[in-house]
Order: sequence, then structure tokens, then C-alpha cells
Amino acid sequence: MPQTRLAIIVLAAGKGTRMQSDLPKVMHKLAERPMLRHVLDACERLDPWRIVVVVGTDMPSVEAFAKPHPVAIQHEQRGTGHAVAAAQPAFEGESFDDVLVVYGDTPLITSETLARMVRERRITGAAAVVLGMRVDAENAYGRLVLDGHGNLVEIVEAAEATPQQLAITLCNSGVMAIDGSMLFDLVGRLSADNAKGEYYLTDVVALACQEGGLARVVEAGVEELVGVNSRADQAIAEAILQRRLRAAAMAGGATLIDPDTVYLCADTIIGRDVVIGPNVVIGPGVTLQDRVEIKAFCHIDGAIIRAGAIIGPFARLRPGADVGEDAHIGNFVELKNTKFGRGAKANHLSYLGDAEIGEKANIGAGTITCNYDGFFKYRTVIGAGAFIGTNTSLVAPITLGDGAMTAAGSVVTTDVAPDATAIGRAPQIDKPGHAARFRETKRRAKAAAARTLEE
Ligand code: UD1
Ligand code: MG
Repeated sequence: MPQTRLAIIVLAAGKGTRMQSDLPKVMHKLAERPMLRHVLDACERLDPWRIVVVVGTDMPSVEAFAKPHPVAIQHEQRGTGHAVAAAQPAFEGESFDDVLVVYGDTPLITSETLARMVRERRITGAAAVVLGMRVDAENAYGRLVLDGHGNLVEIVEAAEATPQQLAITLCNSGVMAIDGSMLFDLVGRLSADNAKGEYYLTDVVALACQEGGLARVVEAGVEELVGVNSRADQAIAEAILQRRLRAAAMAGGATLIDPDTVYLCADTIIGRDVVIGPNVVIGPGVTLQDRVEIKAFCHIDGAIIRAGAIIGPFARLRPGADVGEDAHIGNFVELKNTKFGRGAKANHLSYLGDAEIGEKANIGAGTITCNYDGFFKYRTVIGAGAFIGTNTSLVAPITLGDGAMTAAGSVVTTDVAPDATAIGRAPQIDKPGHAARFRETKRRAKAAAARTLEE
């Protein structure tokens, strides 16, 4: 097959007024990543010759985010057709065979569907292929009008549709594959003589058909094509995406005990025979290796959990946490920027930050690394096989050697040698009989106070 060039134009210049936000719409997140990233992911998987992102004038965050893809600026938002025209300078002097127009606010589109559209256009030689979806309920999507042969003849926006057209359940998702040699010619001839006074990209279909061109529809499920125009739509899209991520995790060999309560990220890496309990939230940058168990109510982000480790319930792993093989992190333990050795245990109530914990060390309940003085952060290093007594405060910077111990309740401020024990607490004083005398004195005082009240 001769080399063909695929260009993709991502429309992201709309202000997204209905989001009621200072943030451009496409920067709003699903599964912790901006919608635009989801769309770019699907586009990049096709390995196209070029992706151009159309942004508005006051959207530096979108421009920065689109990199390394070139950006075209649409100075005024005068419709989807106008937005495509704004991308033309980014293709000056170039020719390409197919162009996909994808909307930044349709974030759940998959690369498989995009590839299907390009294939359909190449096989049929259609001027345009539109991605349609079946929507039975009342909606504001454009309607796809077909002829008797099932070919598309025009797209009518809901605002302009006749009652008969509004009854059509085949709707426009917005995504289109267009013959690259015709695109800018068609777009240049659009008119804004319509209900919204905008240049509708959708009108290229009627234009192409009037000139004897063919337009086709490829269908996909509405779950993939949901458009996000409001916070309510965003929540709907998030729910769909989470279902997809959970299904992928389970297909990959993970058990999710109550899948609907587990939140994953698009970049979560999950191995085989991983078990995730109910109510677990996983943020960006997390890897769960094989046989890891995450018990209920954990919140994990930016962390790697190595094979066979057991986490939770109620553990908090923050960025830079690296939990070694077969290690245990128990209830109410927080790790940040800490390498936690293979087989080590911190089973209860601890904060370990900016630390390195050796293999098979045992971190007692209530151990705290005092890593911050209000200005700088300091490291704590704990050797292999060390035993940190309950309620130890480790004032960093500090190093405890292999096999070192600390006595319960110690505040440890200087380094501890290997196999040494540090006791850093006030010595205990025992006073024989004191408790009994104390109680007797107090009992008498209370009885005297009661008599005074009666008098
Ligand atoms: C559009 C379609 C409609 C379809 C629906 C699917 C047109 C005329 N209508 O309507 O048939 O059912 O999408 O979701 O195309 N944008 C720009 N510049 C602009 C205007 C829009 O970049 O001047 C971008 C937006 O950022 C958004 C996308 O284009 O990513 C779609 O724009 P939007 O205003 O949401 O179009 P809809 O009214 O939803
Ligand atoms: Mg929209």
C-alpha cells in the first residue's frame, strides 16, 4: 500500500461556558488527567503524520499541555467549521490523504473507533465519514439524515431541525474523517447563516453531497461518545471511564472485591493476582505489581508497590513511596518519598517521610519521622532488621544502623550504631504506696467539699 498521510485536528477552543469555570473546558479532568490528554492518547495511538490542536487566544495552559503537538489559535469562537479553518496555516504547503476532526470535549473516544472511520473512508472513497451514535432520549446533538441507501446526506443541528428530523435517533458525535484534499476547500465555503450564526463543520456533509460526493456514517456506542459540556456531563463521563478502567484491571487478572467503589487512573499499572478491597482510591502514577493486596479504604498516589506487599486497611501512600516485596503497611500509616525495604513492616499509626527503611525492619506503632523543621526536609535512614519501638520520634537527619533498636517512647536525635539500642526518654521513678495515699487524700477532700455544700 502506498504511504498515506493522516492528519488529526483536535478542536479545543470552545470556552466551555456551561462548566462555570476559570479553567478551559478541555483541562477539566477525568480519572485525574485533563480531558485533552485522553483525546490526545487516542489520537497518538494511530501514529498520525500530524496532530494540530486548535485553542482559543487566552488558553496558555491548553497550549502548554498540547506540546509537542503544534497549536493553532482560533481568535474568536465562531463555530466548529471556523475552528477547523483556523488550523489551515498549520498545514500550509502540505498535502495529506485523510483528516480526522476530533472534539476535545468528547474524551472517551477510542483509537479503535477512529481507525474504523479512516478505514471506512479509504474503502468507500467517501468525502466524509461521520461518527454516529443512537440516542433515544431528548437531546441537543445534531441529527444524521440518511438517504434510502443508508448514505448520509446532511447533518441538521437540533436547533434547526424540523420535528421529523428531531425524531431521528441517529445523532452526530462530532467526530469526522474527511478527504484531506477537500477539507479546507469545503470549510472555506461554509456559511454562518443559521440559528447560532456560527460556521458549522457539520455543513461540509451537505456541501460535499451536493457536488456528488459520498458521505457515510460509522456507528459507535454512546458510552464512548458522550460530550462533556457541564459538570454533570463530566460526572457521567467519569463514571463511564472508571467502569472501563475497572474492567481492564479485572481482565488483566486483578480481583476488585467491590469494583464500583474502586477509583483508578488512566495510567495505573496493575499486575496479576492483585486484590483490591472496597473503597480504594488510586491517583496518578501508581504501579501495583503481581500479588499485591490493597485492603479497604486506602488512598495511594505516585507510588510503586512491589510484588506480594500488603497495604492497609486505611493506609495513605503519597508520591515517592516505594514499598518493597512482601512488605506490610498497616492501618493509619502514611508514607511519603520513602523507600520501604523488602519484607519490612509498619503495621500501625506511623508517618514515614523522606526515609529509607531497610529490609525486614520492624517499625513500631506510632513511629514518626520528624523530617521537617518548617524550612528544610531531612532524611531518615533505618538499617536492615532494625526494630523501632512503639512511639519513637526519629528527628532527622538521622541514621540507624542495621539491627539497631529504639526503646518505646524514645525521641532519637543522634545516629544509632548497628546492633545498638537507643533509649531516649526520661528515666522512670517508682513511688511505693503513693497511689493509695493520693486516692485517700482526694477522697477526703471531696467528702469535705460535699459537707460544706450541705451546710
Ligand atoms: C457539536 C456538533 C453537533 C454534535 C455535538 C456532539 C456542530 C455545529 N455541532 O455541537 O452536531 O452533536 O458537537 O458533541 O459541530 N469548538 C472550537 N471552536 C469553536 C466552537 C467549538 O474549538 O468556535 C470546539 C469546542 O471546544 C468543542 C467542540 O469544538 O471541543 C464542539 O463544540 P461545542 O460548542 O461543544 O459543539 P456542540 O454544540 O456540542
Ligand atoms: Mg459539545
